[in-house]
Amino acid sequence: MNSISYQAPSNIALVKYWGKQGNQLPLNPSISFTLSACRTETKMALSEKIESGMDVELFFEGKRNEVFERKIIAFFQKLEGDFPFLREHKMVIHSSNTFPHSSGIASSASSMAALAMCLCGIEGGEVDLKKASYIARLGSGSACRSVYPQIAVWGKNNTISNSSDEYAIPYAEEMDEVFHSFCDTILIASSGEKSVSSRAGHALMDTNRFAKQRFAQANENLINLIGAMREGDLERFGEIVEEEALTLHALMMTSNPSFILMKPATLLMIDEIRKFREDTKHSVYFTLDAGPNIHLLYPASIQSAISPWIDEKLKPLCENGIMIKDQVGHGPSTI
Ligand code: PMV
Repeated sequence: MNSISYQAPSNIALVKYWGKQGNQLPLNPSISFTLSACRTETKMALSEKIESGMDVELFFEGKRNEVFERKIIAFFQKLEGDFPFLREHKMVIHSSNTFPHSSGIASSASSMAALAMCLCGIEGGEVDLKKASYIARLGSGSACRSVYPQIAVWGKNNTISNSSDEYAIPYAEEMDEVFHSFCDTILIASSGEKSVSSRAGHALMDTNRFAKQRFAQANENLINLIGAMREGDLERFGEIVEEEALTLHALMMTSNPSFILMKPATLLMIDEIRKFREDTKHSVYFTLDAGPNIHLLYPASIQSAISPWIDEKLKPLCENGIMIKDQVGHGPSTI
């Protein structure tokens, strides 16, 4: 095979990975929903090589992008042992995202997962998802969770015997069906560039005074969240997920240097979500990435009931009214 195309989705962590060691190994386990609408589509074509050294051309959204190209070359150099064809061919890669570049949505998880699927698939045969997850992890930690449908767990922990720091494992089968189609409406509070890269953010945990308690909390939250999700306990799910989101931001605020990544609109949205939940008893919860945008999480069964509220109260708080309607999805596929 000399050409292959894959799409891979982004994912949203419910228990957050924040802090790493060694070669992209997590300091605590994490669990995520694999999304569906926010994804990267990547085509990789191999041809005869003329230049010496690693020969890669990278086109992002149709245009040659030399910044991304250098990153990919550095990544491929680490993978030469796993994929000898990387040394032997010229590679032309075309990549594009289904979500707007300036939406503040991180694309590293979906792009590294799509690339890992291409690398693992180009030699033919069915892709070994464990290997794809391992390769994606080397590109961007959280990307290792994006190769599986619906729900994935990454990081060695006491609850799941086959869990590993090296790759994620699929975990949807264990969970109540309500979580197989959960909705995630992403509310764009601000689309500006992040003030801290995720690499720098993880490094802040090396000196954060709450690091030890945090890693213990993440392990506990993982056990409790898995219990709640098995039982379909939405209330407990929401409590843990919101605690995780706010802890992630509390850690950033208490790091040195410190970062406040929430925006005024983020807080207004959180207030509105909690008020609506209190008033209506609807199961609506929020989580956050390392940025200001809210991921509004709720069961698909209440989608039409809460949609007028989203449009009336939350949309006006979004930058230029931008929201992305996403949902738990089926993982990567060829295109
Ligand atoms: O995969 P990275 O290095 O971009 O880190 C992702 C960190 C969070 O999104 C904040 C949490 C997570 O588990 O995805």
